[in-house]
Amino acid sequence: MAKPLNIGMIGYGFMGRAHTNAYKRVADFFDLEYRPVLKAVCARSADKAKEFAAKWGYESVETDWKKLVERKDIDAIDICTPNNTHSEIALAAAAAGKMILCEKPLAMNGPEGLKMVEAVEKAKVPNMVWYNYRRVPAVTFAKQLIDEGRLGRIFHYRAKFLQDWTISADLPQGGTALWRLDVAAAGSGVSGDLLAHCIDTAIWLNGPLADLNAMTETFIKERKHNLTGKVEKVGIDDACAFMGHFKNGSLATFESTRYARGHKALYTFEINGEHASIFWDLHDLHRLQYFDHRDQGSLRGWRSIHVTDGDHPYMGKWWVPGLQIGYEHSFVHQVADFLEGLTTGKPAQPDFRNAYQTQLVLDAILDSAKSQKWVTVAAG
Ligand SMILES: NC(=O)c1ccc[n+]([C@@H]2O[C@H](COP(=O)([O-])OP(=O)(O)OC[C@H]3O[C@@H](n4cnc5c(N)ncnc54)[C@H](O)[C@@H]3O)[C@@H](O)[C@H]2O)c1
Repeated sequence: MAKPLNIGMIGYGFMGRAHTNAYKRVADFFDLEYRPVLKAVCARSADKAKEFAAKWGYESVETDWKKLVERKDIDAIDICTPNNTHSEIALAAAAAGKMILCEKPLAMNGPEGLKMVEAVEKAKVPNMVWYNYRRVPAVTFAKQLIDEGRLGRIFHYRAKFLQDWTISADLPQGGTALWRLDVAAAGSGVSGDLLAHCIDTAIWLNGPLADLNAMTETFIKERKHNLTGKVEKVGIDDACAFMGHFKNGSLATFESTRYARGHKALYTFEINGEHASIFWDLHDLHRLQYFDHRDQGSLRGWRSIHVTDGDHPYMGKWWVPGLQIGYEHSFVHQVADFLEGLTTGKPAQPDFRNAYQTQLVLDAILDSAKSQKWVTVAAG
């Protein structure tokens, strides 16, 4: 019989649902020592929290996250709230000795992130950041191929994350659902929201970034603010692109925007190595495109690998070969790995310290865009 691990989740929005779904499914598909229990959900509105708890199966409700963090019957705090709340909640949760699963980006900036890293390390509490794309089986498979040396020396890492939902100048900023447009809540725009995912995956697959040169643009300069009712300056970046060098000598080209008409969540990366190349696309997430120059010349070409076989990462836990899984399963895998890490003592990655590396790259991006100069990425 698996041991219960009592979850206290803060925020019931997009990620609140994605994480809850993962907690509910993980023990059905993975054999683990621990089983998440939906102990409490916290939101500022008691009615909405109760409605969410009833629908998704939480045992209780809190309206003040500080009370949740102090509850004796909670083992792990899951932070699914806007970016400007991550630090305060995480510091309190660490001080209360709770495990912490925190949404990305870890913090509003590097110095805030470092305090969070130090707090969880001092408290010795298990911790993890939800950079879930590492756990899409095709992406995990890409990591395996790279670690096996199949690509050889890496020359290029190219990543994009494109959306199109903020093009209208009538869209307000701030408040429920639109906190991403409010720099006080989000910290940055597409860089921290979208490019952060690309950076985390890149560091995982290709190692740390050394330096970069970035540009950001805010296309709509003023928007009505939902919290004040006034038209206010927009402080986020609507689009961001950078080029840079990885420490292994390969070149980085990254782009994210919410102004690419026609694209909803087009996260892609391509890696070009001496022997082989890899391409992945979130819109076709169960496939990995692979080209190997060492194949017999007449048969050489891009292979579209359907990452659904039992010997592909995570897939042996699901259905039968040929049947694919989707977006939500990356969160199930992340919970499974977190729980596994509690048993083995090998913490699931990225933990806070590991996710802090992405924060330092984000700081370098904003510094470079402001100064219009090349910036060295600080060592973590
Ligand atoms: N891993 C991913 O792919 C991914 C995807 C989306 C969002 N995120 C991250 O998840 C976090 C939440 O994003 P979201 O899309 O779920 O946002 P959302 O707007 O859908 O939900 C935010 C939730 O936080 C609640 N909230 C806000 N302030 C609060 C407070 N002080 N106390 C309690 N509850 C509070 C809101 O009521 C809401 O339930 C952000 O940090 C975001 O960057 C990660």
